[in-house]
Amino acid sequence: MAIAPSWSADRATDRPELFPARLGAGAARVLIADDQADVLEALRLLLKGEGYRIDSAGSPAAILEAIDADEFDAVLMDLNYARDTTSGQEGLDLLSQIRRHDSTLPIVVMTAWGSVEVAVEAMRRGARDFVQKPWENARLLTILRTQIELSRALRRQQRLEAENRALKPDVRPLLIAEAASMRPVLELIHRVGPSEANVLITGENGTGKGTVAQAIHAVSGRTGKGLVTVNAGGLSDGVFESELFGHVKGAFTDAKTDRVGRFELADGGTLFLDEIANVPMNLQPKLLRVLETGDFERVGSSRTRHVSVRIVSATNANLAEEVGSGRFRQDLLFRLNTIEIQLPALRDRREDIPALAAHFLTQHAQRYRKTLTSFDPPAMQALLDHPWPGNIRELDHAVERGVLMAQGSTIRLGELGLRLDRDQSSRVEDMSLEEVEGFLIKKAMARFDGNVSQAAKALGLSRSALYRRLQRYGL
Ligand SMILES: Nc1ncnc2c1ncn2[C@@H]1O[C@H](COP(=O)(O)OP(=O)(O)OP(=O)(O)O)[C@@H](O)[C@H]1O
Ligand SMILES: [Mg+2]
Repeated sequence: MAIAPSWSADRATDRPELFPARLGAGAARVLIADDQADVLEALRLLLKGEGYRIDSAGSPAAILEAIDADEFDAVLMDLNYARDTTSGQEGLDLLSQIRRHDSTLPIVVMTAWGSVEVAVEAMRRGARDFVQKPWENARLLTILRTQIELSRALRRQQRLEAENRALKPDVRPLLIAEAASMRPVLELIHRVGPSEANVLITGENGTGKGTVAQAIHAVSGRTGKGLVTVNAGGLSDGVFESELFGHVKGAFTDAKTDRVGRFELADGGTLFLDEIANVPMNLQPKLLRVLETGDFERVGSSRTRHVSVRIVSATNANLAEEVGSGRFRQDLLFRLNTIEIQLPALRDRREDIPALAAHFLTQHAQRYRKTLTSFDPPAMQALLDHPWPGNIRELDHAVERGVLMAQGSTIRLGELGLRLDRDQSSRVEDMSLEEVEGFLIKKAMARFDGNVSQAAKALGLSRSALYRRLQRYGL
């Protein structure tokens, strides 16, 4: 049978002064548990002298309560509590319970002399090491110190891995915004970005909500920590809660290990809640609470944790309407939209199209290793005229297609593959005069986002003439 490492005589047990209790991140906090007051007192004196912070518990119930309420670096616990028994069974059961609750907390058990079987069983149930009573001070200190260091390293690693999965590189995003309709957006980013205010970004698909969220984080005082994103649209109800708040091992069938949630990862930084309208109704109260107090619990744990997180959220939905129809809590909306930034659709900021198109051209030309420098005039005109229902993202994709298809050093109209232009050129010949008129009116209305005055002006009609035609064509 494998023997625990603490049996080995050649460990550095006799030089505890090499291992001060004050580890990197402040004094380690240890929970000591025994039902004998004199044992607790002796341990307290020994460990306090080494610089540990000590909490004590005299019963299994008190241990569970303490672990539930606070975070410890290690637990040092006796296995026997009912005085009439020395089987250690109560302690072993307790050990399993703690393990289910927290898989990284190092537990060192104390056993009576000669009860090797109990010690081995304790290790099997997840104790990291054990000491025999009466203990040798130097050995006990070394074991404790080693376990704390190991578990701190393990927790650090878990955290790093989770961070690597969640964090995108924090670079100041390129934000092209010359259009007049973008001025209020830029001003808000610079005015409220550096504050701690929660910001709600609204706008159609592809208008640059994610890009603006990065810009806000980049000008904030939180750049030392990351921008963590969670997309409420892509997650099922069940997964969403543990994604936000994390879970403990055993919280549900698939929870094989502890998991750090996005709120914990974003601690000290910014959390970007994308597609916020999709947060399920039953989770909205929990979200509201953490926004109000910074407090939350991992799924499956009753221990309250606290974080400092700045919230930037985004949606393409009309949240006021969602509130009206009972799908979104009004108090949550008021927490999120301290400041609201409305992003204009690309059709309302056409001045930015040449710069955006040139930017995407450079990007994709580099990616596909093509030497392309510009768009030919008809292609540029088409880019300027297109209604862009998918906004900047659609422009990005059109330019990417152009780069891939281009034969020469400039991108030509046909290579962009803009659907409307293709439909138009292929069909006009086959249309009646009336059909062409209806088509042009529809196109003008789309281009000016339903604004009759502007569409009428562009078509060279009076408002009332356009109204009559809209009725005639059933538009
Ligand atoms: N002002 C800008 N300058 C340069 N590039 C931009 C700008 N705004 C957006 N982009 C680019 O356009 C694309 C779409 O932007 P982004 O993903 O931020 O939009 P979104 O509103 O979050 O979209 P969705 O609604 O689909 O989530 C990205 O490739 C982004 O880099
Ligand atoms: Mg987005």
